[in-house]
Amino acid sequence: MPDTAPDVPDTYLLGALPVHRTGFGAMQLPGRGVMGPPRDHDAAVAVLRRAVELGVDHIDTAQFYGPDVANELIREALHPYADGLALVSKVGARRDAKGGWPPAQKPAELREDVHQNLRTLGVEQLAAVNLRITDPLPNYTPPPLDDQLAEMLALQDEGLIAGIGLSNVTLEQLDHALSQLDIVCVQNPYSILDRTHEDVLQRCLAEEIAFVPFFPLGSAFPGMPKVTEQPQVQEVARRHDATPAQVGLAWLLQHAPNVLLIPGTSSVAHLEENMGAGQLTLTAEDVATLEA
Ligand SMILES: NC(=O)c1ccc[n+]([C@@H]2O[C@H](COP(=O)([O-])OP(=O)(O)OC[C@H]3O[C@@H](n4cnc5c(N)ncnc54)[C@H](OP(=O)(O)O)[C@@H]3O)[C@@H](O)[C@H]2O)c1
Repeated sequence: MPDTAPDVPDTYLLGALPVHRTGFGAMQLPGRGVMGPPRDHDAAVAVLRRAVELGVDHIDTAQFYGPDVANELIREALHPYADGLALVSKVGARRDAKGGWPPAQKPAELREDVHQNLRTLGVEQLAAVNLRITDPLPNYTPPPLDDQLAEMLALQDEGLIAGIGLSNVTLEQLDHALSQLDIVCVQNPYSILDRTHEDVLQRCLAEEIAFVPFFPLGSAFPGMPKVTEQPQVQEVARRHDATPAQVGLAWLLQHAPNVLLIPGTSSVAHLEENMGAGQLTLTAEDVATLEA
């Protein structure tokens, strides 16, 4: 069954691999604060299996979700993997004992973390790996971007990564990277509530690069506005007898054909809801209400 409404494209290329527009983000599977084991292990496994049953062929993960937990759950639930399942990870950060996300962008760290992902997921190649860029911090100066890109290219040349992606990038960083190598996907925060990276999305569209918004529903982090709580989103949902999450996701799918969704959830009910977003066609009036 197509996972989008009739006039919305059903798939987009993630590098050479066509994937459905709605995938799955694994960050909500580990415990609270993306640390430690899930509250309900069997439920986490069930979410992953149901996702694939419903047509998900693009799963976003990271070794540092847990750490280790998300990848190990994916392997437990889905290995041996179906042909065509794109497992996408990211490197550039780790976790500390307090649940912080310290950067780890030295070329040797990027290499070590790609190997960790391959080992825990049980694969010889990842469909794509996003290089997660961190701005300079008071006590951390990242290595030059070119050194990081060169290491990603070496990992690709060695066959460990099919495609290279970028995450948390500015338009300038994306353009700089594109002057040196091919990029298959860009993962930046983006939703109906936060369109800061519209310029990056549009450059990706022009270059036929998948744009994979993270926090498409506003994230699980307290203090960040939630798409589902916005009155305009709720109003449009009532018009269609849909849910607010479906409206937020449908808006993203209709916004640009190169958007690949990876909403995160630890609940089968929410997963099933999210997978239905592609069936919702928003009218021009709906879009005007949402974008007002
Ligand atoms: N590149 C990066 O630096 C980066 C950063 C952050 C995230 N990511 C990736 O992007 C993915 C998506 O981002 P995210 O998971 O942080 O945030 P998100 O998808 O915007 O939102 C997740 C939150 O929404 C809730 N939710 C999901 N479906 C729902 C529904 N139908 N109705 C109501 N609530 C719903 C989830 O709770 P329940 O669990 O209760 O459903 C969770 O609290 C992540 O899973 C991760 O793979 C990448």
